[in-house]
Amino acid sequence: MIDRFGRRVTYLRVSLTNRCQLACTYCTLPEEPRTVMQADEVERIMRVASERLGFRKVRLTGGEPTLRRDLPEIVARLDALPGIREVALTTNGLLLAKRAGELAEAGLRTVNISCDSLDPERFAELTGGGRLDQVLEGLTACREAGIENRKLNVVLLGGVNEGEIEAFVDLARREQVEVRFIEHMPMDAERTGKWRLSPRDVLKRVASKRGLVPLPTSADGGPAERFEVDGARIGFIHAMSNPFCDRCNRLRITAEGRIRSCLLTGGEVDLLAALRSGHDDERIDADLVALFEEAADLKPPIYDLQREGGISMRAIGG
Ligand code: GTP
Ligand code: 5AD
Repeated sequence: MIDRFGRRVTYLRVSLTNRCQLACTYCTLPEEPRTVMQADEVERIMRVASERLGFRKVRLTGGEPTLRRDLPEIVARLDALPGIREVALTTNGLLLAKRAGELAEAGLRTVNISCDSLDPERFAELTGGGRLDQVLEGLTACREAGIENRKLNVVLLGGVNEGEIEAFVDLARREQVEVRFIEHMPMDAERTGKWRLSPRDVLKRVASKRGLVPLPTSADGGPAERFEVDGARIGFIHAMSNPFCDRCNRLRITAEGRIRSCLLTGGEVDLLAALRSGHDDERIDADLVALFEEAADLKPPIYDLQREGGISMRAIGG
């Protein structure tokens, strides 16, 4: 679908739950457990989005999506939709050592794993007790299971993990995983700027040591600027200092079944009432199309950094 500003919207990010085993420093707004969408509801949304509106890519997020037992079933149902070219997952990686096999079998080929430190103690501190070795095992398990497209998300936290850039670049080379350095986005007023560390500066640091060869942006137009450095693939996501809103190609579905028009400042449109209305299939599908159109109309041209109040990444899925 095409929004009011001519942007082609083909990428849906679906949060499957607000629950997560971790409590990361920058992601701790409290979340009440709420009604979540069922597997068949997620499938229906995606079928309508792909068949009627031209969506081609879906990324499953959370909370932590691997906490859902039926995740392989959801992956398989979405992978079977003719219009969907890619089913991807963003995860903290903790359960991948156990679940990579069944997810690969269900059709998963793309995983983004969040990991902000390669030092076990710092990792535990940042995540509220998470175990780094489990995440790294999960990363390896994906390769072994045949999930070829693996990326590591590193949120740059000034004064916390900025001494680890080289170690992450080495990991990218050794494990052949793409490492993306992400500018921290302050989600509530108090914390604004606390961890500011510019991806531009990190890029300069990495580039001054070795050459940087630009790589094309990913097929479905993700926000990362990508490079190759000495056999390592790295990327930079700088939503704050260099917003990519003009190329924004996405809508989000929250775990409670609302379409969110923008990560930071979007309005939301409820889908759950329409999904559960008891109307006949044709009517429900038509209602979903209309609600998607309403949500696309709410997509702002650029996000508003002056907005009031906090945002829960945990509910939106990043
Ligand atoms: P691919 O391009 O499909 O690999 O996905 P991605 O990089 O968009 O997804 P991922 O879930 O790995 O998120 C990486 C970072 O990009 C996170 O910090 C997200 O919060 C951020 N991000 C993703 N989508 C948006 C967006 O629409 N706006 C902004 N400002 N940031 C986003
Ligand atoms: N700023 C930037 N990235 C964030 N993420 C979570 N919160 C923030 C934030 N405030 C990242 C996570 C995960 C991805 C979905 O979003 O690290 O990899």
